[in-house]
Parts: sequence; structure tokens; C-alpha cells
Amino acid sequence: MYQLSKRTNDFTDSVIRRMTRISNQYNAINLSQGFPDFEPPMELKEGLVRAAINGPHQYAITWGAKNFRDALAKKYEHFSGIKVDPEEEIVVTCGSTEAMMATMMSIVNPGDKVIIFSPYYENYGADTILSGAQPIYVPLVPPTFDFDRDELEKAFVEGAKAIILCNPSNPSGKVFTYEELMYIADLAKKYDAFVVTDEVYEHIVYKPNKHIYMQSLPEMRERTIVCNSLSKTYSITGWRLGYVIANPEIIERVKKVHDFLTVGAAAPLMEAAVTGLEFGDEYYEDLAEHYAHMKEVFVGGLKRLGLKYTDPQGAYYVLVDVSEFGVKDDTLFCEWMIRNVGVAAVPGSSFFKEDVNHLVRFHFAKQDDTLNEALRRLSNLRELANNAIDVDWK
Ligand SMILES: Cc1ncc(COP(=O)(O)O)c(C=O)c1O
Repeated sequence: MYQLSKRTNDFTDSVIRRMTRISNQYNAINLSQGFPDFEPPMELKEGLVRAAINGPHQYAITWGAKNFRDALAKKYEHFSGIKVDPEEEIVVTCGSTEAMMATMMSIVNPGDKVIIFSPYYENYGADTILSGAQPIYVPLVPPTFDFDRDELEKAFVEGAKAIILCNPSNPSGKVFTYEELMYIADLAKKYDAFVVTDEVYEHIVYKPNKHIYMQSLPEMRERTIVCNSLSKTYSITGWRLGYVIANPEIIERVKKVHDFLTVGAAAPLMEAAVTGLEFGDEYYEDLAEHYAHMKEVFVGGLKRLGLKYTDPQGAYYVLVDVSEFGVKDDTLFCEWMIRNVGVAAVPGSSFFKEDVNHLVRFHFAKQDDTLNEALRRLSNLRELANNAIDVDWK
């Protein structure tokens, strides 16, 4: 009898995709999986048409087409103030998902420890397992999602080689403050660890919060490895364009891992996306305003319904507190909600290492009509949930 890899034995089915499947089955409004239901900018779609006709259609340079890296370096400098060499300090990857995996494979040895804030984006768990690392989870405690500074230092003292920092954060919506980032940076320097950032929501931040680039903090340029992508910024999650930015020595290694993993990102899509990277400030201001509007529609609606939630500072998720309904099992509750309320969310327990069962995550990167219909359905939630008898989640 054959045996499959021990390393992947414990992988579970993605809860988010499971909720999507059930949502489709019951024709519910799917606010579980985080992707927009509106169109990307016309310039990108036109660029795609041009690339379809004129190419390129063959492999690009493995670490990314030159014009794409050049445009990326300019954009990154514009927003972060950091000048990077597009030849030596950037690798273009298949989404931030590959960026994170290639980074972990490049810096971690089996048995090395990596700090992950919990709740966390589910891929980080798999990334650490695939790279052989042992995660040390440090709680971001709801509802404020602050962390205990001593507990974080303890994790570094245990010998962590790196910390993964998702900022702005999915699912908590936390945007780390300058002071918090400085504290993390100081620990990374003190204990000689890498900071691996996931900044896919860098441009989705709600005023007065501000995104601060970890790499721009004093002496952090060398030890920060930036993982990012175009998925969220240009509403092109299906294009699979991401990147790693780091110092040349790290990038040299990431280039090799990336080459063996995927050879490269899709050449015509890189070509088409260059126009996006060259957009002026106005595009990013409009994007932030658009998200502020969607947040106002959905989160404002939750407020009017009297539901308890944590106001997100960034990204496009909101965690709703469902403890008032006596929820004991949030996964079963979410399945019930799909069937009975017609709205799909993700059980918070799938993001937390701690025993947290009272939060469910909705995303709001949706058109007004979709969000308003979801709110109309959710207006029945309290009555339905309170009157529900013989349910498996109470
Ligand atoms: C925090 C975070 N990182 C990475 C990703 C995936 O990004 P990409 O599409 O670039 O692989 C997501 C997608 O939801 C995310 O929420």
C-alpha cells in the first residue's frame, strides 16, 4: 500500500471553500471567500486584450518581466519611500500565496520556529508546515486585537527565526500602529529574526488609520521580506500576480525557489498589469474611498441591526460577535446561517489557534445591491437564531 507525505497528512479542507460550496448549494449570498464582485479597472482589461493580440505568450524572465519589475519598483518607492533595485531585489510570483511559500522555503530550515499572530490568514499554517517550520502563535486578543508585549518577546526568546506580519490584517482588520511596528522591529533586531510581511491590503485602509511599511522603519530594510500582490489593489485575484521584495542575498535564494516552484508568473498578465502599476495617486485614493463606502454600507448596516462587531481599520472583513445567540460551535452556526438566513460567512475558529467560537467573518468587497440584500436577510438573524430550537450549534 502506498503512503502519502506525512508533511501534508494533517492538512484540512479549507473552511472558506467549504462555506462557499454550501453557499452555492443553498443559493446564499457568499460573504465568506474574499474577492470582489465588481470589475477591475478598464485599463487593465484593455491591456489584457492588447496582450492577447500582441503577446508576450512565452515564458518571461523567471523572476518577472523587466517592465513589470521596473514599474513595481517605482510604485513601491512612491508609497514606501524605499528605493529597490528591480534586478536584484524583486521576484514576481504567482500571487502573494507563492511569494509567502517561496520566502518560507528560502529562509527556514525544518524545525525552525516562526511566529504567527493569531487569528491569522489560513495559508500561514500550511506555509510553515510545508517549509518544515514550527509555528509559535501569539494571540491578537479580540475585540481590540492588541498583543501582549511580553508574550511576543517570549516567542522571540524561544528562538524564532522569523515573524509573519499581516498588515493590514485578515481577518481582524487590524492596522498595526507605528508604535506596535517599532516594538516588533526592535524585537526582530534584538533577536536577529526576519520579519516577513503580507501587505496585500496596503491600499485598503480606513481613515484615520495609515499603512506603515515595516521595511521603512530604521534598520529594517535588510531583515524585512515583503510579500505582496496585485490581487486586492486592482481587483484581479484571478490574475495571480504577486511579488517578493527583499535584500539581494535573500532575493537570490527566492529566485531559485520560485524558478523550481512555478518558473514564473503569466507573461501576458504581467504585460497587461503594468498599466495598473503606473496609475497615479488618484487611483489609490478612489480605491480607498470605494472601500470606505462599502464598509459604510455593510458595517453601518450591521450597526443599525444592533449586531456587535469589531470595526475594521483596514482590509475588507468584519468580525461579528454572535455570542448573544448562545453559539457553541461557530462552524455549525455558519452552516445553519447559510441554510436559514441565506448569507455565508466564515467561522472565526478557523482563524484562531485559541478557543474562540463567538466570531464570524463577513467580507464586504461587494456591490451595494449585494450588500443591501445580505443586510436585509441578516435583519432576520436575531429572531431566527434566538428562536432556533434543536440546533446543533447551541
Ligand atoms: C492576508 C492575505 N494574504 C494573501 C492572500 C492571497 O493573495 P494572492 O491572491 O496574492 O495570492 C489573501 C487572500 O485573501 C489574504 O487575505
